[in-house]
Amino acid sequence: MEKEKYHFGIKEIDQDHDKLFIIIEKLKTAIGNHQEGPVLEEVFYQLLDYAQPHFLQEETLFSQYNYPMADEHKLHHQELIQRLINCIPKINTHECDEILAQEMVTFLDSWAAHHMTHVEPTFIELIKQNNLSL
Ligand SMILES: [Fe+2]
Ligand SMILES: [Fe+2]
Repeated sequence: MEKEKYHFGIKEIDQDHDKLFIIIEKLKTAIGNHQEGPVLEEVFYQLLDYAQPHFLQEETLFSQYNYPMADEHKLHHQELIQRLINCIPKINTHECDEILAQEMVTFLDSWAAHHMTHVEPTFIELIKQNNLSL
């Protein structure tokens, strides 16, 4: 996945979104290298540590600027967080870590593509209209 294809032309936001794609790539590399559960678990936590503050920054602006798509956007954020929270206790506890990680990659690829093309654009409009940044 070339992360540049999801750039919106706002440096701070694009750089922050790049981190998401870098972590997804890291997970793919770890799976490709048949890494053990602890390595996969570590990447899952990196993703959670990235996503929670990033989403919170966006959601803070939703309420400040009466963003009309706030509910749908928050729901889509929540979908990723919930998926991670459900998955983290399972990884590194049994023998199908690689399958779990692969399922997570499939989910993340489609989540990220959908978020960047269908959810994030209206938020980026709000950012541009109000000259905001994260
Ligand atoms: Fe975002
Ligand atoms: Fe978002």
